[in-house]
Amino acid sequence: MTGALRRLVAPLSLVAAAAGLGVLAFAPGHAGATAGVATGATATASPPAALPGSLLAANATRTHSSSNLQLGQTLFQESCSSCHGTDAQGSALAPNLRGLGAATVDLWVSSGWMPLANPAAQPVVKPDRFTRAQTVAIADWVGSLAGGVAIPHPNLAGASVSEGMSVFALNCAPCHTITGAGDALSNGITAPSLHSETATMINEAVRTGPGNMPRFGPGTLSERQVLDVVAYVRRYIQHPTSGGNDLGGIGPVAEGFIGLFVGVGLCVLAAFWIGDRTPRDLDEHAHGSDVPHGPGTTEHG
Ligand code: HEC
Ligand code: HEC
Repeated sequence: MTGALRRLVAPLSLVAAAAGLGVLAFAPGHAGATAGVATGATATASPPAALPGSLLAANATRTHSSSNLQLGQTLFQESCSSCHGTDAQGSALAPNLRGLGAATVDLWVSSGWMPLANPAAQPVVKPDRFTRAQTVAIADWVGSLAGGVAIPHPNLAGASVSEGMSVFALNCAPCHTITGAGDALSNGITAPSLHSETATMINEAVRTGPGNMPRFGPGTLSERQVLDVVAYVRRYIQHPTSGGNDLGGIGPVAEGFIGLFVGVGLCVLAAFWIGDRTPRDLDEHAHGSDVPHGPGTTEHG
């Protein structure tokens, strides 16, 4: 029994080590990614270190209004103008963006749909290649050319999730499904999954109607209803609490590793339990037992 226990210790500690590594590798990875985004944003917005503290706030505001538009224009010339034209007026390759507003541009860049590598390719969701500050700069610059819907700043503090659920069921679920998993519509059009958009992107999509999605203007959904539906998507579609133990919400990857640890651990235990018995059973059979235990033995016996 102690021998069997000792044989169990090695594989179990291997599994424990794997699980530990998994949790370490993925859980701080989350935090690291968030921190990276935050640092990226502050790095672009932070003023020169030499400025006295009292000037910092004023400088940040100035940065946003003038040199941010310049940054946006520069980035647009580099990454977008080859298709959309130097003044966003459009070309044979890509549509006019003037008058679409900052919200539309922000959504198309944040979702990774733009910039396209090839004008004939279908836009697909990919990581935003710009920092948040750069994306906002591009969007603000295009918005400054001819107006349009500005980038929203949804404040979900007073939003009603239950109202949001009925707005969603009536207006969004027909295409995105009630779980927000997304669905194929007719003509090869797909309503994407809503599991990863930020509150700002959801707000922008509802108000601007990207691609084949209808636009929900203020006459269709009030500002209040938009905030309710954004809150619903963020809270219940993106963080479903569908029973079971969520292990404190440490994340699906870490939770998966704990599942793996417990599951594989039990399998290893079972395997060793069985493995320990089999040689004894075979020994008994070899010493003249008349119970047949395999096709080979019965044929010749
Ligand atoms: C290789 C060419 C190409 C490049 C580069 C490109 N786009 Fe586009 N863009 C397109 C095409 C083509 C469409 C139309 C796609 C569609 O409707 O399916 C489009 C559509 C858009 C739309 C939606 C227009 C609408 O009517 O709803 C926005 C906004 C946009 N692009 C912004 C940008 C921005 C900002 C950049 C730079 C970061 C960029 N694009 C770079 C080709 C390009
Ligand atoms: C008629 C079908 C339809 C309805 C109704 C609809 N959508 Fe969409 N939605 C789409 C399609 C199609 C796209 C993808 C846009 C494209 O590239 O053509 C989309 C895109 C989106 C996106 C951006 C997803 C991404 O990948 O970044 C969000 C967010 C979104 N929809 C939310 C909503 C919400 C919230 C509602 C309800 C208020 C709603 N949609 C109603 C069809 C629909």
